[in-house]
Amino acid sequence: MALTNGAGVATDIKASALELIGNTPLVALDRLHPGPGRILAKCEFMNPGASIKCRSALHMIQKAKESGELKEGAPVLEVTSGNQGVGLAIVCAIEGHPLTLTMSKGNSLQRALHMEALGAKCVRVPQVEGTYGNVTLADVKAAEAVGMKIIDETGAYYVNQFNNQENANAHYVTTGPEIWKQTGHRVDAFVATVGTAGTFTGASRYLKEKNPNIKCFVVEPEGSQPIAGCKISKPLHLLQGSGYGCVPNLFNFDTLDEPLSVTDEETLHYKKLVGEKEGLYVGYTSAANVAAAVKLLNSGKIPEDSWVVTILNDTGLKYTPVAGESN
Ligand SMILES: Cc1ncc(COP(=O)(O)O)c(C=O)c1O
Repeated sequence: MALTNGAGVATDIKASALELIGNTPLVALDRLHPGPGRILAKCEFMNPGASIKCRSALHMIQKAKESGELKEGAPVLEVTSGNQGVGLAIVCAIEGHPLTLTMSKGNSLQRALHMEALGAKCVRVPQVEGTYGNVTLADVKAAEAVGMKIIDETGAYYVNQFNNQENANAHYVTTGPEIWKQTGHRVDAFVATVGTAGTFTGASRYLKEKNPNIKCFVVEPEGSQPIAGCKISKPLHLLQGSGYGCVPNLFNFDTLDEPLSVTDEETLHYKKLVGEKEGLYVGYTSAANVAAAVKLLNSGKIPEDSWVVTILNDTGLKYTPVAGESN
């Protein structure tokens, strides 16, 4: 609710950081892909936590409070790859909930620093399988086990993004409708990486309801493509926050047209191109989305003049650059 100026006149002042979440711009990547067709990218790095996960944080906490599951001032716990934790740290700071996050040590240190700067406690859990910058399902499970112990000890409310339908609903009520409106109802294809699947499931459901002819694609790291039905041959990849090597519980095959894949090399190449051609410094899953969108437009799978909407999930500032990355 925007504030008034004290004399009843509406201002353009946001009442809190919660009102900075969502309503992100959609930008045409016309320099990177001059056509035919067009790649339209949703600038989720412009959320106050610099990622798309602010949306699910706000929606899941609001719904838990509405249902009475989360009481005023009660402690909250979540298992995170970092972005969900940062989103929750913003919401919990404003709403007055002590927050503890458990996160694999394979996720970047920047994320833990960010969460702690917002007043949350971040427990970094040693990896059991992956390496720094490459987080596997076993690493996430290790962070989850530590989180469950903390819940036993403290009785904290468990947000549970991997199994919480309100995670997907956040994108059904915000991301999907924003894309539909911003494109003037012209969306031919939607492309998204999958972590919990909240983004893909919620946004694709809304877009397909509006226009059943929209084609929806997921992006998986090559060698870790369970949605495509492939055996996992390469569990380590650059796409922190996605590609955990299992089909997430929130994933809905009904709105999937086809899975796509990208290699780490393609991700690094497009991360550099998005920076140098479009002036946007984004993270690895954002680059993977753009790489997949370009490949899709060049594949003949959709008409060549299609408008492809995809997501710039977070900022490149959240990461320690990896070997082979030149910028
Ligand atoms: C950087 C990044 N990209 C993509 C995703 C995937 O989003 P979702 O969990 O909605 O599938 C996440 C999730 O944490 C993320 O952190």
